[in-house]
Amino acid sequence: MYKTGRPPLDPDFQATIDRWFAGKDFSVNFVKSHVPIWHSILAPRREEPLSILEIGCFEGRSTIFFLEYFSNSRITCIDSFDGGVEPAKNPYPAYPARFDSNLSAYKDRITEIRARSSTGLEMLRTHDERFDLIYVDGSHQRIEVLLDSVGAWFLLKVGGILIWDDYKLMRHLPSAERPMDAIDLFLRAFGGCYVMLHHKYQVIVRKSAEWPDNPQPAKRGKRGALWRLRRVIDSVVTRP
Ligand SMILES: C[S@@+](CC[C@H](N)C(=O)[O-])C[C@H]1O[C@@H](n2cnc3c(N)ncnc32)[C@H](O)[C@@H]1O
Repeated sequence: MYKTGRPPLDPDFQATIDRWFAGKDFSVNFVKSHVPIWHSILAPRREEPLSILEIGCFEGRSTIFFLEYFSNSRITCIDSFDGGVEPAKNPYPAYPARFDSNLSAYKDRITEIRARSSTGLEMLRTHDERFDLIYVDGSHQRIEVLLDSVGAWFLLKVGGILIWDDYKLMRHLPSAERPMDAIDLFLRAFGGCYVMLHHKYQVIVRKSAEWPDNPQPAKRGKRGALWRLRRVIDSVVTRP
């Protein structure tokens, strides 16, 4: 079974992608296994002048992929380049100099925000930025993934696509140290506002609606709890 649920790419397209990465300096490839599903979902929008946001760009491989795949796009990258909340445990220390040198040919299409995601997302919201495609691939801590998801959601245009990486990462770890429960909580809270496109190692949705201005009054049981959760998130994230 393929990790992404899709067969490998056409060899010619794979060779093209290999050329995009040739001559660059990478220590690991977090992108390769995701390309077949990305291609199957994103291909219809390839020629559009998309505005893309990436949380967690590391050495820039996914950044280069998006810039090459969407040749008319621009990308905003948020990365603290400090390895997240537990840098000592992180087997992949981030080197901003490697990102800079790998992306040097694309400088005029990149806005780089070298900050924690909470700070970067707040900056973008303050400037009323909106994106067509958002890739959430930063922290793996449950609370940070939840905050990144909510922060990203309000920057995503209706019709835009949100991709979470690492939904099934390290399921032996406590819930608080991996993304799954944050993503599940987000999906339940925002039910009715998205169309599910893919739900395996990555989760991919298309935003179909903003939150209603006047949510239904809280009901008893599970649905009532979800409305209350929405209201709590709403009070944390004040829309501009
Ligand atoms: C898994 S890597 C991203 C991989 C990259 N998207 C790729 O496919 O090549 C995660 C990155 O997120 C960054 N990061 C982790 N927690 C963060 C946070 N709270 N705010 C900003 N960046 C964070 C790390 O510095 C690291 O570079």
